[in-house]
Amino acid sequence: MRIVIADQMEEEVVAGIRKLGDVAYKPADVKAALADADALIVRSATKVTRELLAGAGKLRVVARAGVGLDNVDQKACEEKGIKVMNTSGASTNAVAELALALMLAMLRNVQKAHHQMKSGLWDKKNLTGSEVDGKTLGVIGYGRIGAGLAAKAKALGMTVIAYNPPPRREDGNAEFVGKLDALLARADIISLHVPTTPQTANMINRGSIAKMKDGVYIVNTARGDIIDEDALYEGCKSGKIAGAAIDVYRQEPYKGKLLELDNVYFTPHLGASTKEAQARIGAELVKILKEELKG
Ligand SMILES: NC(=O)c1ccc[n+]([C@@H]2O[C@H](COP(=O)([O-])OP(=O)(O)OC[C@H]3O[C@@H](n4cnc5c(N)ncnc54)[C@H](O)[C@@H]3O)[C@@H](O)[C@H]2O)c1
Repeated sequence: MRIVIADQMEEEVVAGIRKLGDVAYKPADVKAALADADALIVRSATKVTRELLAGAGKLRVVARAGVGLDNVDQKACEEKGIKVMNTSGASTNAVAELALALMLAMLRNVQKAHHQMKSGLWDKKNLTGSEVDGKTLGVIGYGRIGAGLAAKAKALGMTVIAYNPPPRREDGNAEFVGKLDALLARADIISLHVPTTPQTANMINRGSIAKMKDGVYIVNTARGDIIDEDALYEGCKSGKIAGAAIDVYRQEPYKGKLLELDNVYFTPHLGASTKEAQARIGAELVKILKEELKG
């Protein structure tokens, strides 16, 4: 079995996959390496396009180490009889914990305080934060990660409201609102957990920001294209949005104008980057390859 791993993976994950066959790890020319490959593994960096697959005559499976399949042309795969799989639940807890970490750090000015002290400042009086206890968290997209975050937020004393058209998880941790506007009007902190689709693209825009509370906080660990960047920039600059913490971007690595603002906090797409999530992803990839390529 020939397997191409196109993107950076943890060493242990690569070692586990090597046990299944002949592995080309991060080949310089992915397209050429696919000529005799049975399986392709990607994270988010490699774009699996029709063009990339043009010479992949033997390819039977594309496995995405992660959740979102927005970097895979699923139609092109289907036409070539290539199955597309993801490791859907493996990073759930890691992303939920990152969303929580970003939220707590932002509300307590942890990132700002760190940078100030590194530059020799002790500016306590300007670093008074807010507590999450008693605040209302609005979760947009109540699937695996949204529900995981809600359980943690509830334990911290937050009221959780959620917007997710049915079918959805009813677990008693969140009050569902029927309309997005109802969530926007009530939430002190909004966390995004929807997939990227034509309906969710730019769902956070000038209009939706105007309906939010003054001084709202936004956390995005879902996908970059869910937020209109110009609208977020204006909202953060004017103070309508007190702070935003962002892990995902339309273009990665991100070099855009939000970097100019002091109340926007950044992580470089770290959602699934925990040792535990990577181990789960590795185990799931091995399972997928064994299952799909047997016989
Ligand atoms: N930052 C990272 O590294 C990282 C890692 C994993 C996943 N993600 C992203 O997190 C997001 C959620 O992942 P998940 O595993 O929880 O997915 P999921 O499929 O379990 O949940 C998504 C939920 O969104 C709901 N939804 C879809 N369209 C909606 C809409 N228009 N309005 C409201 N709700 C809608 C769905 O019904 C579903 O319940 C995805 O965008 C994924 O790409 C990011």
